[in-house]
Amino acid sequence: MSTSKDIFKKHQAQTFPFPSCLEVASAKGSYITDVNGKQYLDFIAGVSANTLGHSHPIINNALKEQLEKYSHVMVYGEYIQSPQYKLAHLLSENLPEKLNTTYFVNSGAEAVEGAMKLAKRVTRRAEIISCKDSYHGSTHGALSIMGNEEQKASYRPLLPNCHTITYNSVESINKISNKTAAVILEIVQGGTGFITPKNNFLQKIRERCNKTGTLLIFDEIQTCFGRLGTLFGFEKYDVLPDILCIAKGMGAGMPIGAFISSYELMNLLTFEPSLGHITTFGGHPVNCAASLACLQHLLNSEIMKEIEKKEEVFRTHLTHPKIKEIRGEGLILSVELEDEGLTKKVVEQSLQNGLILFYFLFTKTSFRITPPLTISEDEIIKGCQIITEILNKY
Ligand SMILES: Cc1ncc(COP(=O)(O)O)c(C=O)c1O
Repeated sequence: MSTSKDIFKKHQAQTFPFPSCLEVASAKGSYITDVNGKQYLDFIAGVSANTLGHSHPIINNALKEQLEKYSHVMVYGEYIQSPQYKLAHLLSENLPEKLNTTYFVNSGAEAVEGAMKLAKRVTRRAEIISCKDSYHGSTHGALSIMGNEEQKASYRPLLPNCHTITYNSVESINKISNKTAAVILEIVQGGTGFITPKNNFLQKIRERCNKTGTLLIFDEIQTCFGRLGTLFGFEKYDVLPDILCIAKGMGAGMPIGAFISSYELMNLLTFEPSLGHITTFGGHPVNCAASLACLQHLLNSEIMKEIEKKEEVFRTHLTHPKIKEIRGEGLILSVELEDEGLTKKVVEQSLQNGLILFYFLFTKTSFRITPPLTISEDEIIKGCQIITEILNKY
């Protein structure tokens, strides 16, 4: 008889040969429980998605309440649906005037696709500049601007006119010209292990974009809502984008994304042609209800104020001779070890010992830590002890 693992591996399309195959029974707070009743402390939060942890009552109640009223009723943008417009309104109240109009989509990649299209529509230019080692999603447009050739080679031809600069390299900024429609950047670059902006890189990019009439897109798909201790990462760096892409953590575990810009720019999607971007399920009312509940809770609680302290607890309890560096900021951290083999051992052995860690796309010598923002200090210490014990052993 086929086991669940056999069926999973054969009938559910796979992304790589060695998935952990943790078989989930339930999840609550900072823990996931498998079908054998074993509990795992979750330092990953579905890769920065479960902002308030698992099965948070505020999120579950919002979902249930909305389901009782209505679920999908119409394609995006036709009917007035309260979870959508209330979320758009609350976002506008917490963003600068320049970012007061939100287009809801289904995922991070689609938010990026929408942002790229909007930039082309606004500027009537074709060139998009992204960074080496960037990740913006897996669809064709997003893949075209991914800063890693290995991931792209098999899928060429991709979009033309896509070029890269080097993150944090002020010299490379001159590549941005009056042919460039948009520059897209992650506030904390994820794929190579959470590189934060240095040398006033973001400010300098902003200045160059102002000079060349280029739109600046911030991909905050992994840093939103609240992961750096502010609702959006750009608030910490005091640089405003023209278009903001969000997803992952904004849904508190539900699938939703958005690209956000000014009313004037966003309105261009309604003519020449009309229906400039359309989606059936974008801004699904049930997912918007979850996102709205998450946003309200973050705004009305102390959670974001505690992020810096929690980062400090991680940094204090992850001091070990085999740890070369901890990168990142807030609750988006990367632990750099001596080599790839050790990183793999730590991630695999942690799972055995009841702690969930995970890898990065482009660096093999670091593991990621992106727990629910609601994780307690005791839970952080407990997880760090598990990591330290493993490092002591190897
Ligand atoms: C910075 C960034 N942009 C875009 C994406 C794509 O989001 P999604 O997987 O929802 O399409 C991700 C996902 O990991 C991401 O980290």
